[in-house]
Amino acid sequence: MLWTYQSQLDKKIDTVCCGWTSRGVGLGEGKIFLGKLDGKLVALDQRTGAEVWSIQAERWQDGYTITSAPLYYDGMVILGFGGAEYGTRGRIKAYSAKDGALLWTFYTIPAAGELGHDTWPSDSDAWKNGGAAVWQTPAVDPGLGLIYFSTGNAGPDYNGSKRKGDNLFASSIVALEVKTGKYRWHFQEVHHDIWDYDAPNPIVLFDIKYHGRERRALAQVGKTGWVYILDRVTGKPLIGIDEKAVPQEPRQATARTQPIPRGEPTIPQKVDIAPYGFRLINQGRTFTPFWDKVVVVTPGPVAGPNWPPSSYNPAHGYLFVCANDRSGGYRVSEIQGNPLPGKSFTAGRGQAPPLPATGIFAAMDMRTNKIVWRQRWDDRCYSGSINTASDLLFTGRNDGRFVALDASNGDVLWQFQTGAGVNATASVFEYKGQEQIVVYAAGNLFANSPAGDNVWLFSLDGKLEPVSSPMPLTAESISMNNANAEAGRGLFAQYCSQCHGQDGKSSHSGAPDITAISSNRIVIGMLLNGKNGMPSFAKVLKPDEIRDVVEFVTQSLNTASDSRGPTQ
Ligand code: HEC
Repeated sequence: MLWTYQSQLDKKIDTVCCGWTSRGVGLGEGKIFLGKLDGKLVALDQRTGAEVWSIQAERWQDGYTITSAPLYYDGMVILGFGGAEYGTRGRIKAYSAKDGALLWTFYTIPAAGELGHDTWPSDSDAWKNGGAAVWQTPAVDPGLGLIYFSTGNAGPDYNGSKRKGDNLFASSIVALEVKTGKYRWHFQEVHHDIWDYDAPNPIVLFDIKYHGRERRALAQVGKTGWVYILDRVTGKPLIGIDEKAVPQEPRQATARTQPIPRGEPTIPQKVDIAPYGFRLINQGRTFTPFWDKVVVVTPGPVAGPNWPPSSYNPAHGYLFVCANDRSGGYRVSEIQGNPLPGKSFTAGRGQAPPLPATGIFAAMDMRTNKIVWRQRWDDRCYSGSINTASDLLFTGRNDGRFVALDASNGDVLWQFQTGAGVNATASVFEYKGQEQIVVYAAGNLFANSPAGDNVWLFSLDGKLEPVSSPMPLTAESISMNNANAEAGRGLFAQYCSQCHGQDGKSSHSGAPDITAISSNRIVIGMLLNGKNGMPSFAKVLKPDEIRDVVEFVTQSLNTASDSRGPTQ
């Protein structure tokens, strides 16, 4: 090991939507650029790990966190901010790589007088808290001098009643001039989103022939499951995307039409058979609206592709997409006054239908936007992919396998057990004339995969054997002796609050209120076994961690408990 750098994050940070995570670093000028969950952007010396500079780019207390890898380009560090669930206004900023000085800011929700501001109500400040976070690293085209990124959903999610209009530039692809941060063009994937259909999958740039003409293209895979293929010079669809009428719900102020790409979606967009306890409306199709009664829609809020990058094969013109098939049960909740800085600002009280979440890995032809091959996984697909000129396609499985598929047909060619969830993207490089592949196996909160901290390096000469797959914990291995509710609070913030809310009451993502549960046994059982939308933590947490989080739920969260201590 050459050096280590510890982020030293404050365990009190409670404005992280969607798990404590860092999706990578940027590199340039001998420095490593790291965006942190506490809103700091740090530059480290690549050789020593010493801090060169550090700035407070945004404050986590106001709801802004950094989860994506910063982009280094031509003396600049370009960075988007998360935080849409906390009443924020999305933004992307460029800093000097030399000293962290701010160069430009682009707000993903336009202010008065700017293009797109009229897609928000004129009689309220809804736009100031309208979300449209930037969760991923932008793509850059040095020749055109443009960067491209896609944005998160409009806020508050699920309830569109107080933000009539298309809500630009939420759920959109945006192109900016990289030197100035000036707007060039945008394409909105979902008008007036109420389904949490944001666009966290990173944009892929490629050049391809359409009708005999070489075109500069880009593709983004939305949480709708569609691949949106555009000309990256103009932002116009290359294959065709048609505005089509969709069902209406006036109380939600739904958009009259939605953009529907020609071709095929990567994942199912309707429900074939009603789940137990639910009546299907409009066959659960994408863009089915809802109000105060639960409506099942596919994909749901935790379906489609997420941030793990898609990969492109220029020889075939194929885009490889790791996505998920899962329905959501949507219902609004009332919007509670104006959003407060750093306080949760969501307005849905869904109920997850009792259906499994499965992964779908798809190869899509970028000339037709149609499926070349597709396969279903028994658990969620939550890993980036990369492919080689020899048609090897590397991706990861939540159970710790690093796998090579045949890029032309999806056949499994090779698998290797790493001992922890392979949720990061592998890198392929040449060293001393030999092709090598490196991958980080560490698990991921959204994938709910076994945690670890292993870097694996592969070549054709490799001699290491695979390790055994992680064993799930059993109830007998959990003892409540010396339980620490305070330690459990931090764990709850990291692992549970994304679905249950830090107070245990919010039912964002359809998770139930858990403030009336006083039985350790019930919570332990739920944590080890999981159920429907509730993931199992049996391979994710250690026995002491389960113990502490259980103590926090049954003692600190439980509103009926007598032993609510001063820590509440
Ligand atoms: C991805 C979202 C998600 C995460 C993360 C999550 N839960 Fe859940 N949880 C659910 C859902 C959905 C249910 C309801 C499951 C069902 O009964 O169908 C649930 C149910 C529960 C229940 C049972 C409630 C009851 O009334 O029976 C408990 C207790 C619970 N969760 C605790 C936790 C704890 C503690 C954590 C963190 C370690 C956690 N959950 C993380 C979604 C989640």
